[in-house]
Amino acid sequence: EKDILNGLPLNGKKVMITAGPTYEAIDPVRFIGNHSSGKMGFEIAKAAANLGAEVILISGPTHQTVNHNLITVVPVVSALNMYEAAHKYYSNSDIVIAAAAVADYKPKNVANQKIKKKDATLTLELEKTKDVLASLGEIKTSQFLVGFALETNNEVENAKSKLKRKNLDLIVLNSLQDKGAGFKSDTNKVTLIDKDENISTFKLKSKTEVATDIINTIITAINA
Ligand code: CTP
Ligand code: CA
Repeated sequence: EKDILNGLPLNGKKVMITAGPTYEAIDPVRFIGNHSSGKMGFEIAKAAANLGAEVILISGPTHQTVNHNLITVVPVVSALNMYEAAHKYYSNSDIVIAAAAVADYKPKNVANQKIKKKDATLTLELEKTKDVLASLGEIKTSQFLVGFALETNNEVENAKSKLKRKNLDLIVLNSLQDKGAGFKSDTNKVTLIDKDENISTFKLKSKTEVATDIINTIITAINA
């Protein structure tokens, strides 16, 4: 089997990927989450593993499953869990791709007991979660670091500033302009921007094909 992997472009490379949503607890039975399916991250994991990479796939709660001898799934729930898992595997990674839809805010206090229905309104105080990707950018050594950006306006400008702010090598801008792109859909329309601000636009494709475009762009960049 080692011989078969020898000629593949990502043979010997360790790739860490974050995927899916995170769930932030409100009380023992409730959470704040989002509609991320995890599909994009899982497709990137498969694309990388099929090219010989050893993949750590850190995933929030999803219905996705994968069965590949080069992919290890690390299940997490919250942004803090994802942060801790990502930091555990980071120093050993060559390529890191943050495809997760991490919650930006979490309840400041988590109730120990189920919150009872009482007044007509209920106010939850939220505080920022840790930015997993930004924290990896801050301590980057030799890793090739890739982020996603979900934007609805000034897309390219916002994506470029995210790329700089988080110290990334490449950012995948998810275009929500076209219907059929985004969270729940099986297709995506992406624009890739590298740290020299080279921009490549791709057409609306299946997430499987988008994953291949992303991985191929990374391979070209690391071999340049
Ligand atoms: N990200 C992360 N940890 C967070 C928030 C975001 O790792 N707490 C990562 C995402 O996985 C993605 C990138 O940062 O790769 C950008 O996420 P996005 O939600 O587009 O940007 P934010 O920095 O959260 O800013 P905003 O939501 O305000 O646009
Ligand atoms: Ca966000």
